[in-house]
Amino acid sequence: MEFKLSREQELVRKMVREFTETEVAPIAAETDRTSQYPAKTIDDLFRYGIMGMIVPKEYGGAGADDLSGAIAIEELSKACASTGDIVATHNGLCCGPIISYGTEEQKKKYLPMLTKERKVGAFCLTEADAGSDASKGTTTAVLDGDHYILNGSKIFITNGYVADIFIVFAMTDRSKGTKGISAFIVEKDFPGFLVGKHEVKMGLHGSPTSEIIFQDCIVPKENLLGVEGKGFGIAMATLDGGRIGIAAQALGIAEGAYKEAMDFAKVRVQFGRPISKFQNSQFVFADMHVGIEAGRLLTYKAAIAKSTQKRFTLEAATAKLFCSELANKTATKALQMCGGYGYTNDYPLERMMRDAKITEIYEGTSEIQRVVISGNILN
Ligand code: CAA
Repeated sequence: MEFKLSREQELVRKMVREFTETEVAPIAAETDRTSQYPAKTIDDLFRYGIMGMIVPKEYGGAGADDLSGAIAIEELSKACASTGDIVATHNGLCCGPIISYGTEEQKKKYLPMLTKERKVGAFCLTEADAGSDASKGTTTAVLDGDHYILNGSKIFITNGYVADIFIVFAMTDRSKGTKGISAFIVEKDFPGFLVGKHEVKMGLHGSPTSEIIFQDCIVPKENLLGVEGKGFGIAMATLDGGRIGIAAQALGIAEGAYKEAMDFAKVRVQFGRPISKFQNSQFVFADMHVGIEAGRLLTYKAAIAKSTQKRFTLEAATAKLFCSELANKTATKALQMCGGYGYTNDYPLERMMRDAKITEIYEGTSEIQRVVISGNILN
C-alpha cells in the first residue's frame, strides 16, 4: 500500500486548487447570497475538462481516474460546495451511468454532449413518495412502437433547471417491483418534458434544484439505458459512485471550515494572546485534523475501489457516512471557534455549516448509509 498520489492526480489537485482559489472562492459568498447558478464557472470547468473528466478520451472527456474525480470535487468544495455539487452530479450521476451501461451509440451520442458540447447532466430518481424507499416511484414508461411514453414527476433534482440531459428511472412493469424499473436517457427538448418547482433550500444556493415533470414525454426506444427491468440496479450502482462524490464534497467542506477557523484563531487575540495559543482551541484543531485525515483516507480508498471494477458499495457508503458527519461537526466547531464573527455572513462558516447539512441527506441519508453498511457487513 502506497499513500502517494500519481503525477496526474497531483496535477489535477494543483490545477483545481488554483482554479478554486482564483475563480471560485472570490464569488462563493455572492453565489450563496444571490442563489445564482455559477454559469461562467461551470463553463470554465467544461473548458478545463473537469466537467466530464471521468469520460474516456475517445468520447470527449479527460479520461481521468475516479480518484482524480474525487480530488477535483474535494478541492472545489473547500471554497464552494455548490460548485462541487454541480460537478459531482454531472460526472457521477449522469456521465457515470452512460459510461457504465450505455451502448456504443449512446456513448458516441451523449458523452461528447456532456463534455465538448458543454451540456449539463442530471439524475432523476427521487419522487414525492419515494425518497429513501427509492424503488417505490410511480413514474411510468410505456412502450409504444418506437418510443416510450413517460408520465410522472421527480423531485429534488440537482442541476434540474439548468441541465440538458437526464438519467431517468421509471416503471416499465409495475407488477415486478424493483425488477420492473428501467433507466432512460432523456433530453430536455423531448416533447412532454417540463421543469416544475424550483426549490429554495437552506444551503447549496448556487446548485439548482427542481422538480422535473414528464407529461406524455416521448423518449426514443433507443434511449433505454441498459436492459429493461434492470434500472434499479443501475440506480443503486450509480449512487455507489455518486456517494464517493458526496464524501469528497463533504471532505472539502470540512477542510475549508478547518482552514477558516485556523486563520481566524491565529490572529484573534483575547485575554492577551491569539486564541490558537489556548489548549482548548488546540485540541479542537487536533480533533479536526484527525477527522479530515481519516475522511480523506476513506474517500480515496472508496475511489480507488471504484476503479477496480469490483463492487464498492461498502467503501462508498462508509466514506459518505463518515465524511458527511465530519463536515457537519467540523463546520459547527469552526464556527464556534470564530464566535459572533462566525455567525455573520462576513465569514464563510455559516454558509459552510448550512451547506454541510445536505451531505447527510442526499444521495442516501446517513440512516440509509447505515442500512447499506450493516447489510454489507452482516450478510
Ligand atoms: N449495486 C447494484 N445493485 C444493487 C445495489 C448496488 N449498490 N443495491 C441493491 N442492488 C440490487 C439488489 O441486488 C437487488 O437486486 P435483485 O432483486 O436482483 O437481488 C435490488 O437492487 C433490490 O435491492 P434491495 O432489496 O436491497 O432494495 P431496497 O428496495 O430494499 O432498497 C436501499 C435498498 C439501500 C434502501 C435503497 O433503496 C437506497 O439506497 N435508498 C436510498 C436512495 C437514495 O440514495 N436516493 C438518493 C436520490 S438521488 C440524489 O439524491 C441526487 C440528487 O440529484 C439530489
